Amino acid sequence: MTPAIEPSIKRKPAPKHIAIIMDGNGRWAQSRGLPRTSGHQRGVISVRNTVKHCAKMGVNTLTLFAFSSENKNRPSQEVSLLFNLFLTVLNNETKKLNKNNVRLKIIGDLSIFPEKTQKLAVQAQQDLQQNTGLNLVIAANYSGQWDIVEAAKKIANKSANEKLNPNDIDNKIFEKHTSLAKYPPVDLLIRTSGEIRLSNFLLWDIAYSELYFCNTLWPDFGTKELDLAIESFHARDRRYGARKDK
Ligand code: FPP
Repeated sequence: MTPAIEPSIKRKPAPKHIAIIMDGNGRWAQSRGLPRTSGHQRGVISVRNTVKHCAKMGVNTLTLFAFSSENKNRPSQEVSLLFNLFLTVLNNETKKLNKNNVRLKIIGDLSIFPEKTQKLAVQAQQDLQQNTGLNLVIAANYSGQWDIVEAAKKIANKSANEKLNPNDIDNKIFEKHTSLAKYPPVDLLIRTSGEIRLSNFLLWDIAYSELYFCNTLWPDFGTKELDLAIESFHARDRRYGARKDK
């Protein structure tokens, strides 16, 4: 017989949408006398563990900041390692993601990536399209300002073609044109490594997200740290600007 779950130990539902700024790979490597690139490679293991844990907990969407629009200004050796890592992750992880019933969406301007990577990105998203579990969103050559400008361009084009009356544009219509339109609002935004800033990651989408900053460097971020972030999220009083006594 299945034992009844005690109400006191019933788990609270996981946040529907978690977004993560995975920071500190470089410092993790440098503190060990290793090249910064080893930190990025070790960071992939944290990505794998985080994806698995989110899938297990029933999180609807996990959005990861893998490569910001500004990261391409880093030394070319590091940029090409990050490009290669993205290709390797797509090559090596798609089967595992499929096994875990994960769907994949890549957001950002992919045109700067080699054609091979772009094709693989399209293929991986197609291959995982039928899955019904966690939505994994990878932000690559992405910035929140870029996303807002892209949405504005799409809306302006529709208005110019008389498919949309400018007076009808409101938050809902704007949101429909952003990269995360199809996903639930971001409940929890995590940044690792002790930096307390958003670095042009999701901007439109985090209007009412709970923010969580921890000192752990991304390669050291594991399921325990994720559970702590979720525990902190559950302790928040989300009022969305309203008052409880009203
Ligand atoms: C920030 O650390 C991290 C990045 C710029 C890249 C993140 C990439 C990965 C974790 C691996 C690839 C993942 C996927 C999903 C393809 P930093 O270099 O800014 O570290 P620092 O602040 O210590 O210098």
